[in-house]
Amino acid sequence: MPPEMTGSEITPARGFLAEHAHYDDDLGFWEAHADRLGGPVCDLGAAAGRVTVRIAAHGHEVWAVDTDPEMLEVLMERAAAEGLEALVHPVMASMTDPLPVHDAGLVAVPMNSLQLLLDPADRLTCLAHAACGLRPGGEMIFDLAMPHLEITAELRGCVLDTGHSIDAANGDLLMHTATFDEVDTATGDVALRLIIERIHPNGSRSTVERAHRLHLYDPDEIPPLARSAGLEVLSVHGGFRDEPLSTASERHVWRLAKEAA
Ligand SMILES: C[S@@+](CC[C@H](N)C(=O)[O-])C[C@H]1O[C@@H](n2cnc3c(N)ncnc32)[C@H](O)[C@@H]1O
Repeated sequence: MPPEMTGSEITPARGFLAEHAHYDDDLGFWEAHADRLGGPVCDLGAAAGRVTVRIAAHGHEVWAVDTDPEMLEVLMERAAAEGLEALVHPVMASMTDPLPVHDAGLVAVPMNSLQLLLDPADRLTCLAHAACGLRPGGEMIFDLAMPHLEITAELRGCVLDTGHSIDAANGDLLMHTATFDEVDTATGDVALRLIIERIHPNGSRSTVERAHRLHLYDPDEIPPLARSAGLEVLSVHGGFRDEPLSTASERHVWRLAKEAA
């Protein structure tokens, strides 16, 4: 990020990596699956390349798909800084579009990005295109937040402390909070605001707000969705270290493969 940018001017793309620096528990998981399955890899909703660049650093070709051109610009700056630009292909497209390759070893959708598809038809289209783009033996892998809808509905309007991190670029302390403004317990659709307060080393403060509309998937939604898309479920776990899925899990992590013909 340009050092002269203040908090309120930081776009979602320019702020993404610093604002998510505290979310790194999944990186080893994605590297290991990319190494196991091989490239080419499609990273759907790749954002600023948090996962793309790590996978490319393992020598895999990655097609980074995102609808936000500025995210892809930041992603390529990062890839270039690591000398990886030859392995990274930015694709400005939706995850509901056909994949840019037809022989993917891994179609990855990290950090809840499937939750951004609010229309059920789009979810099916996304998985069906993944099925078409996988080579035999390839896998689609994604992680989702566990819905906990009743609790979330009770917390509607509350400011939830979600941790803090340091922006390595300038030493800013980032204080993260989240507020659910709308929770539809029937559909699982929610409106969420992430608010990040930046405290500069000189004591000055600024705040950015990132608003999202999301679908929180019940784990029971995935097997029929996968089947309709021509995919079979290989596994589901409650975390990135193969933890068993339970009602107490914070995440559900799915591996799918093309159904045998
Ligand atoms: C939560 S961020 C993704 C984070 C990224 N996967 C990671 O692990 O760091 C969601 C990203 O999805 C992108 N996005 C939103 N809707 C999309 C769509 N329909 N197709 C592709 N990308 C989309 C946004 O621009 C944003 O960059």
